Amino acid sequence: MPGDLFNFEMEFRLGIREIDEEHACLVNMINTVHNLISSGSKEEARRYFKETLANYVDEHFTHEEAYMERIGFPQVEEHRLIHARFKQTMQEILPKIDSLDESAFRAALTDTYTWIIQHIGKTDRRYVSYQRP
Ligand SMILES: [Fe+2]
Ligand SMILES: [Fe+2]
Repeated sequence: MPGDLFNFEMEFRLGIREIDEEHACLVNMINTVHNLISSGSKEEARRYFKETLANYVDEHFTHEEAYMERIGFPQVEEHRLIHARFKQTMQEILPKIDSLDESAFRAALTDTYTWIIQHIGKTDRRYVSYQRP
């Protein structure tokens, strides 16, 4: 629905170009995994999730933490901990991905997507007002 899309965009964009680009990239990567599963390329989807997506999550978290430090965001340590916990969760769901069981894989992907979207919309939003002109 156009209404939903609009709200999604509103919540998703933080107005910080470098961060917004990385968030868009994360969402694109999740879509890529989804499309690979749907087209029956499960092995490729598994590899893409474990290598490309997982590495990009790490990379984004590192950039974002450096950004928060740069702008003097006071809750950077708390945010860093939330990132660390998610990375741990991503490790824990790997057996589901490795099982190549399609419904388990899809469930893991949905959980990952949900976490990322909620994190961007709520947790990441907290540092926006500290951004420097
Ligand atoms: Fe982020
Ligand atoms: Fe974050």
